[in-house]
Amino acid sequence: MTTATLSIRRFEASDTDAVVALWQEAFPEYREVTRPHRNPHLSIANKMATQPELFFVATLGERLVGTVMAGYDGHRGWLYSLAVDGSQRRLGIGTRLIAHAEAALVAMGCPKVNLQVLTAKQEVRAFYEALGYRADAVISLGKRLGEHASAESASPPSAA
Ligand SMILES: CC(C)(COP(=O)(O)OP(=O)(O)OC[C@H]1O[C@@H](n2cnc3c(N)ncnc32)[C@H](O)[C@@H]1OP(=O)(O)O)[C@@H](O)C(=O)NCCC(=O)NCCS
Repeated sequence: MTTATLSIRRFEASDTDAVVALWQEAFPEYREVTRPHRNPHLSIANKMATQPELFFVATLGERLVGTVMAGYDGHRGWLYSLAVDGSQRRLGIGTRLIAHAEAALVAMGCPKVNLQVLTAKQEVRAFYEALGYRADAVISLGKRLGEHASAESASPPSAA
């Protein structure tokens, strides 16, 4: 890590280009034109309309190096879009982002947080297990809605 100090703060609109670039590197599906429902600009716009106070970025000086989104529906919290710049991994930034999101959920009264990890991403499961997350005895079901439903049959499985 550089000597710059790591900070975590709320996402701002001016972060958009840096967040999209980070996600395109961290989440290969965002680069797949066959999966137009994974549109990072739409994801950001939707989050700005729904609990924008739970969208966080990590910065090292002026450089954006991480993201995480959280949500609380009054029953459970959820985490999405955790990503750390490939050159800055294994330095504790992901841990800091999750701790920040968890603290925000706790402050809202959230008793439990859930998240989904693609079964192929064993290293991400190892990350979450290192932070105390454990697999629940459930299967994850999902269904795309409205205009996004037509993308379902054409796509391989995806988390969230
Ligand atoms: C998952 C991710 C966010 C982790 O971020 P990070 O900043 O590297 O994580 P940390 O440095 O806080 O790691 C904390 C601990 O988690 C575990 N861990 C992290 N990455 C790991 C890996 N690739 N393999 C095994 N364990 C890992 C380790 O125990 C690590 O502690 P250590 O470095 O002292 O051994 C990052 O790898 C990433 O952005 N991946 C691509 C995007 C992605 O798949 N996101 C998750 C979507 S569900």
